[in-house]
Amino acid sequence: MAERMMIIGGVGGKRTEINASMAVRHGMIAGATGTGKTITLQTLAENFSRMGVPVFMADVKGDLSGLAEAGVEHPKITERLAWMDVSGFRGAGCPTLFWDLEGKNGHPVRTTISEMGPLLLANALELTESQTGLLYTCFRVADDQGLLLLDLKDLRAMIKYVSDNARELGKEYGLISAVSAGAVARQLLILEEQGAEQFFGEPALAISDLMIKDFSGNGVINILDATKLISASPRLYSIFLLWLLSELYESLPEAGEVELPKLVFFFDEAHLLFDQAPKALLEKIEQLVRLIRSKGVGIFFVSQSPLDVPEDVLGQLGMKIQHALRAFTPKDRKTVKAVAQSFPENPDVDVEEAITGLAVGEALVSSLDRSGKPTPVQRIFIRPPESRMGPLDVKEKEEKISRSPLKGKYDTAIDAESAHEVLLKKAEEKAMAEEKAREELERQEEEQKAEKAASQPKGRGRQRQGAGEAFIKSAARSIGSQLGRSIVKAALGKSISRGLLGSILGGLGK
Ligand SMILES: Nc1ncnc2c1ncn2[C@@H]1O[C@H](COP(=O)(O)OP(=O)(O)OP(=O)(O)O)[C@@H](O)[C@H]1O
Ligand SMILES: [Mg+2]
Repeated sequence: MAERMMIIGGVGGKRTEINASMAVRHGMIAGATGTGKTITLQTLAENFSRMGVPVFMADVKGDLSGLAEAGVEHPKITERLAWMDVSGFRGAGCPTLFWDLEGKNGHPVRTTISEMGPLLLANALELTESQTGLLYTCFRVADDQGLLLLDLKDLRAMIKYVSDNARELGKEYGLISAVSAGAVARQLLILEEQGAEQFFGEPALAISDLMIKDFSGNGVINILDATKLISASPRLYSIFLLWLLSELYESLPEAGEVELPKLVFFFDEAHLLFDQAPKALLEKIEQLVRLIRSKGVGIFFVSQSPLDVPEDVLGQLGMKIQHALRAFTPKDRKTVKAVAQSFPENPDVDVEEAITGLAVGEALVSSLDRSGKPTPVQRIFIRPPESRMGPLDVKEKEEKISRSPLKGKYDTAIDAESAHEVLLKKAEEKAMAEEKAREELERQEEEQKAEKAASQPKGRGRQRQGAGEAFIKSAARSIGSQLGRSIVKAALGKSISRGLLGSILGGLGK
């Protein structure tokens, strides 16, 4: 297989190239604040794009939109490029698509509750074990009854339904605690307040829309505006990205050995993914990172310290780009030592000393060679991007968004008939049936009274009452079966599967 080399920087008149196919072995960009992580991410992303590889990134600080516009030439940049043995500066932007969970600064990104699945949701809602159990019950009951869980309204309705029918459902699904149901509903409110409402529903994001190339064969760079989300709900941010990874894993075919990755994913503020994640979830993340490689997807974690990433994940990362770290406190110095030890040795580079002395844009780099062996660590300068360093202004961004090829596809939410609507109808029908039955009973009682007054019938009242009870039961049965049919119809053609969460992430708690 041909090697596709990517120039990422250089030093002293010599360029540094990495084998682009090795991106599927994943990577890490680390460094203290202001040391050049974002620019490195930008340089890598635009190089992947020019090679025809689509890219997805979460824009945490709002400084990545510049990828869409050409950078301007500067004598210092030209000089640095020459020094890296990279021929001349060519200002050029990349094809970009903007996404935004809120739908304001890009296409809205949505998924359904059932696609998200109980494990990730339980994590997003920070549920306890028994509350998680209740959530799993909601999913199972919905599945068994053919109720679609699309948005938060559906989940709320389902929790209420399960709780209202705890006694009946408990026979099949085990103890259902009203206290847990109340707690889950309260947590759901918090998530709603954090802006999750728009995120759940339809039309759900099609993964293929993140893997587009433009007419010239450049990979499209998908930029997710995460500026608000990250402060409002860091948990939702990480859960969303994890869901995205699992969807990618689920929907992409096995890729085998690839010349180039199918998609490269940049995970900024990566520590948020791991902070406080329960052990079960961490294990699943590690598993996902390991498995997704076979689908040709590369993941780059971006964080201040590589130690933000759990050891089992860190051990899987083929490419390491380490910008400067500070060593002010004893804890800092410990980190520096540990990070230095994680690099493959090079007798020409004193890694521990270099880490604290790197200039802005300078980094220690180790990658993998063709056979997958780590290359000796090198101290280089990262190549400045050809796109703009710094964000687009509001007008420029609006203009890009207005020309999006996906315009109109996701912009308006669809509220299909799902659990909320069906359960509402069910409750209304039940109330109506009860009302009717009550009226019938009253009528019968009136009749009885009238009959009693006319003569002296024996024991009839009791029998009549029995007939009234039978009516309620039969009414409920017929509603049940009609409803059943309409649910099946509503569910036709729609997947109620839970994506990977049913397979990879779904094994938990079952
Ligand atoms: N490779 C580079 N070539 C030229 N200039 C660079 C390079 N890397 C960084 N810079 C300069 O340094 C500034 C800070 O870099 P950057 O925003 O990438 O830091 P960061 O590590 O992402 O910081 P933070 O942690 O605050 O997000 C950039 O705006 C740019 O001016
Ligand atoms: Mg940054």
